[in-house]
Amino acid sequence: MIESILPAIYLLASAGFILAVKWMNHPSTARRGVIIGEIGMVLAVIGTIMRVDANYHLIFLGLAIGGAIGIPLAYKTPMTAVPQLTALSHAFGAVASALIGTAEFYEKAPTGFTMAALGTETLLGFLTTTASIIAFAKLQELMPTRPLTYPGQNFISLGTGAAAIVMVGIMVAGYSAPWMFPTFIALALAFGILLVIPIGGADMPTVIALLNSYAGVAAAAMGFVLDNRLLIIAGALNGAAGMILSIVMCKAMNRSFTNVLFGAFGQVAGGAAGAKAAARPVRSATPEDAASILENASSVIIIPGYGMAVAQAQHKVRELYDILTKKGCEVRFAIHPVAGRMPGHMNVLLAEADIPYDKLLEMDEINGDFPNTDVALVIGANDVVNPLARTDKTSPIYGTPILDADKARTVMVIKRSMGVGFAGIDNELYYLDKTLMLFGDAKGFTAAIAKELQGGH
Ligand code: TAP
Repeated sequence: MIESILPAIYLLASAGFILAVKWMNHPSTARRGVIIGEIGMVLAVIGTIMRVDANYHLIFLGLAIGGAIGIPLAYKTPMTAVPQLTALSHAFGAVASALIGTAEFYEKAPTGFTMAALGTETLLGFLTTTASIIAFAKLQELMPTRPLTYPGQNFISLGTGAAAIVMVGIMVAGYSAPWMFPTFIALALAFGILLVIPIGGADMPTVIALLNSYAGVAAAAMGFVLDNRLLIIAGALNGAAGMILSIVMCKAMNRSFTNVLFGAFGQVAGGAAGAKAAARPVRSATPEDAASILENASSVIIIPGYGMAVAQAQHKVRELYDILTKKGCEVRFAIHPVAGRMPGHMNVLLAEADIPYDKLLEMDEINGDFPNTDVALVIGANDVVNPLARTDKTSPIYGTPILDADKARTVMVIKRSMGVGFAGIDNELYYLDKTLMLFGDAKGFTAAIAKELQGGH
């Protein structure tokens, strides 16, 4: 009985995963994508529980403990900390698949193809575990976010990875000694740490997408070990999606993979840049000034960034959008691919505030329109509009494609201070003659402008 319905359950679960990835491609279908993915996962869990002949008490105890940790974690984590949470959940997933591989090794002592798949799975599983924990610690600032480098670092990292692979090769050939597998595990765990400590905080999201891809490949390899097709499909989807996402992110930052992995990028200049910023004069303005400029504008491009997310200003931004649109002004949003702290961050927030999707334009679609735009209104964005990325070869963001806010007729920037953004560097945009700094919290300042505009100024 179970044998006959299990393939159908697995097929439906696989279809759910594939549709989820497809629908999550666009904000208008993303919610549906999440729901179908969840249904797929519930089916996969039910199918797997039906399949195994095991101690159900232990399985349900595990589900209860996992749920008790995971549910509050997901509800309590603010959206700005989702990259850290993602890193942590990769670590959990990776350690689970690595431990299953370890159990299989000791139970079946495989050689040949099965051992090669098991070696791939456990190597990727263990290295993803430690690498994800380091990525989490860097993003949560539990350890320094700057790249930690030392002489001969690439040689030592690659040497450790190569030693682990050689040991798998020996076990594939059928040779094994009791010390070998534990040593292999230690090498894989160390490789994960060595791989991520030289990478700076700014590159962590790309690394997390890459680790997601590794965890997917580990799961697919485990599917071969356990002869489970659903795992192969889900793992391959995860592996491909993670890889494509990291490539997209590298492109958005004009970086190559090797540069991210070995370039020791992302040093945070921090205080020094901030101090230098404070010494130069800027023009600042009040909500009334900003409202009167917007009152006379016929085209406005709003550029949201991380600060809008921190302030949760999206609903006030929506109010401002409504008021300006009603007055006949053309208002559009320019979305930089790495604005905020996670892919799609701005899209999610603006969708939450019900801003029409067709008003959200990607960088390539809107950059050409800035010179014909009256006002570029930057709300809590910094690095993604920094013109130094075009000109300063010494800048850590040099080469990153940016939104051309500086080409608009007037630029207004809402932020609390002259503080730096994620890359830790000063922003030339703030010192232009056409730029007005609107110092304040993104939510409060946007609300104040909206109030002024409604007051009929
Ligand atoms: P950032 O360059 O990080 O700048 C955000 C700005 O928001 C800060 O300068 C800050 O200035 C301001 N801010 C903070 N809280 C605010 C508040 N309550 N009200 C108003 N302003 C506030 O942001 P961005 O332009 O969105 O660029 C994103 C950066 O993060 C890029 O460097 C990107 O590479 C990196 N990154 C991106 C991702 C992804 S995938 N999106 C993930 C990780 C890192 P004040 O302190 O003066 O207010």
